[in-house]
Amino acid sequence: MEHPIPTDHEILLDPKRYIVSKTDAKGIITYGNDYFVEISGYKESELVGKPHNIIRHPDMPKVIFKLMWDRIQIGGSIMAIVKNMAKDGSFYWVVTEFESKRDKLNHQITGYTAFRKAAPKDAIAEIENVYMKLVEIEKESGIEGSRNYFIGMLEDKGLSYDEYIDKLVGNRGIFKVFFTAMKKVFG
Ligand SMILES: Cc1cc2nc3c(=O)[nH]c(=O)nc-3n(C[C@H](O)[C@H](O)[C@H](O)COP(=O)(O)O)c2cc1C
Repeated sequence: MEHPIPTDHEILLDPKRYIVSKTDAKGIITYGNDYFVEISGYKESELVGKPHNIIRHPDMPKVIFKLMWDRIQIGGSIMAIVKNMAKDGSFYWVVTEFESKRDKLNHQITGYTAFRKAAPKDAIAEIENVYMKLVEIEKESGIEGSRNYFIGMLEDKGLSYDEYIDKLVGNRGIFKVFFTAMKKVFG
């Protein structure tokens, strides 16, 4: 499938609604809730069976997804602020919690789930600049370069990645309560 050309049109999300998608162990989309399909601009049939990078925005640094995959592949979870792209090239910002699902019997990872909600404006304002810098570095010196820069930035702030995201999102408590409730519904 052709990748859309990004536009500067922002899709404003309903702060009360959530976007949920699931993938298999390889990151192939197996499920999306109604809001995921609606916001993406694709038909459900165009999404299911496709790699999840179908909604990847070119402004997202590779290093963030690397960090995310490193965490979920060993059964962990991680929160990230993500800029996604709809079929018409529009963008939208979400706070996303990525989680892994394991088989109850053999404990193998069977797939992953992502829960998303509209990102707070001040968090977007800050992370947008950080991501711009990381993408710029990646063009010059690849993911090693952006990783080193990001680690250096966090060290300067005296924060771990999780602490930094907590601070940015502000009311992580609220997001956590929400994502935990969603997990009970979507598993
Ligand atoms: C459950 C789950 C949800 C994901 N959701 C997104 C998403 O909303 N946007 C996105 O760009 N990548 C998402 N990804 C990551 C993609 O699989 C992919 O790693 C990323 O888009 C980077 O693309 P690339 O690997 O082709 O560089 C998700 C992965 C998983 C496992």
